[in-house]
Amino acid sequence: MEHATHQFSYLVAKDISELSQSDSELLVRAIALTKIAYAPYSKFQVASVARLANGKIVEGTNQENASYPVGICAERALLGSIGTLFPNEIIETIAITYQPSNGKSDRPISPCGMCRQALYEYETRVNHSIRLILAGKEGNIFIVNTVKDLLPFSFGSEDLQ
Ligand code: THU
Repeated sequence: MEHATHQFSYLVAKDISELSQSDSELLVRAIALTKIAYAPYSKFQVASVARLANGKIVEGTNQENASYPVGICAERALLGSIGTLFPNEIIETIAITYQPSNGKSDRPISPCGMCRQALYEYETRVNHSIRLILAGKEGNIFIVNTVKDLLPFSFGSEDLQ
C-alpha cells in the first residue's frame, strides 16, 4: 500500500484592505446583506453574493423555517436564484459572510457540506471553477480558488455514468 495525500492552497488576507477593489466591493455588499437574512431560530445571519461572468451580481441569504429542516442556507438560496435568473452563467466569485445576533463575526466561515455539494455541482455543470471569499465582518479572509478544493473525494454526475 502507498500513502496518498490531498492538499490545497488558499490565500489568507489579513483584512479587507488586502482585497482587490472588485473583491472588496463584493464582500462589503455581503456584509450589508446579512441584515436581511431570515434567521429567527439560529439567529445566525448568513449572506452570499456572487459576481457572474456577465457582470451581474446576485445575492442570497439563509431562509429558516419553524420546521427547522425546511430552512435553506444562503449559498443554496443564491444558487437557486442564479439557476433561475441566469441559467448556466459562469459564477466567477462568491463572497460569504455572517453575523450572529449575539456574537462576533471576526473569522471566516465556510460552506456546510450540503452547500459544498451544491456549489460543486454548479462548477461541473458550467465547467468553470467558483472562487470563494470567506470572511467575517472583520479579521482574516480566506480566498479559495475552487469549490472542488473544499470537497475532496467528491461524488458527482460523472459517478452516475
Ligand atoms: N448557514 C448558511 O446559510 N450558510 C453556511 O455556510 C453555514 C450555515 C445557515 C444555516 C442556518 O440557517 C444557520 O446558518 C445556522 O446554521
